[in-house]
Amino acid sequence: MTPPRRGRLPGLRSVGYALFLFVAATACSSPFDTLAHTDDTEMDSDDIDADWISDTSVPTGQVAPVDVQPAFNQDGAPVDQVIRLRFRDHLDVRTIHNALFRLYSGPLEKWLTVIYDPVRRELVIWPGSDMRAGVVWELSLREGMRDISGREVAAGVVARFITSAERSGEQPFPRTAWSQVAPAFAQHCQSCHSAPKPFAGLDMSDAEAWQRTALNAPSDGWPTAVRLMPYRPADSYLIHKIIDDYPLRAGQQMPRTMDDADTRAPLTFDEQQIIANWILSGAFLTN
Ligand code: HEC
Repeated sequence: MTPPRRGRLPGLRSVGYALFLFVAATACSSPFDTLAHTDDTEMDSDDIDADWISDTSVPTGQVAPVDVQPAFNQDGAPVDQVIRLRFRDHLDVRTIHNALFRLYSGPLEKWLTVIYDPVRRELVIWPGSDMRAGVVWELSLREGMRDISGREVAAGVVARFITSAERSGEQPFPRTAWSQVAPAFAQHCQSCHSAPKPFAGLDMSDAEAWQRTALNAPSDGWPTAVRLMPYRPADSYLIHKIIDDYPLRAGQQMPRTMDDADTRAPLTFDEQQIIANWILSGAFLTN
C-alpha cells in the first residue's frame, strides 16, 4: 500500500490519472458507458502508482497547502470526510469560490461547501451528502485562488483518498455558543467598546448594542468591510482586526492600547479560534 504523503501537489500524478481515465473511457464502446457504469471507477489502493507522487512539485511563484487532511492517498477515509487545506500565509478571501473546487470519483461528483477559517488559515471543505464507499475520490482546484501577497495557489488535484464504508460524524467546526466568547469580549474589548462612548462606534455592551453596531454593520476604518457577518468569519472585519499579520485592515490589531508607549498582547490563538467558531456557528448573541 502507498504510504500516506501530506501536502504535496500531484501534477504528474493527475496527468497519469487523467490518462488512466482516458484509456478506460476509450476502451468502452461509447463515452456514455463510463457514465452509466459508475462501478468502473472503483479502484483499490494497490492500483495507485507511487511513482506519480515523487516527480511532482509546485511551480515557482505559486503556493500549495502546507497541510492536507486526509493524508494523500489515505485508505479508509469515512464517507463523510471533511477535507482541510491549511496554508502558511493568509488567503485573499476575495478569490475563494465554491466553483473553483470539484470533488469527484470518475463520473460521480459531489456538491460542496467551502469555508475559509482566517484564524487557522485553513479551507474547510465538505460534501453535501455522504460519498460512495470504497472508491477513490479526488478534490481538484482550478486556477484563480491567491494568497494575500497575490501568489497563485497551484491548481491541480489537492486531495485524494479512498473511502471505507464508515461514517465518522465529524463536524467541520465545533458549534460555539455566545457563553463561550462573551468572557473574552468582556475581558479584552469592553473597556473601550461599550456605552456611553464606544470607540469607533462599536458597542459591545449587550446583545442590543452588538445587534445595532456590529451585526451586518459597515466598518468605519475599512469602508467596504462589514463588521460581523454571521456564518462567515472570512468576511467579518472583526476577525481581520484580531488575527495576526493581516494587512487588509486599518488602524491597529485589537485589543489595542490608547497609549503609544504601551502594548497589549493579542488574543491567544485559542481565543481567536473560539471567536471564529462562534461566527461560523451563526454569531448568536444569546445562548
Ligand atoms: C484600548 C481601547 C481598545 C480596546 C481594548 C479594543 N479596542 Fe477595538 N478599537 C479601538 C479604537 C480606538 C478603534 C479605532 C481605531 C483602530 O481601528 O485602531 C477600534 C476599532 C475596532 C474595530 C474596527 C471598527 C471599524 O468599524 O473599523 C473592531 C472590529 C474592534 N475595534 C474590535 C475590538 C475587539 C474585538 C477588541 C477586543 C479583543 C477590541 N476592539 C479592543 C479601541 C480599542
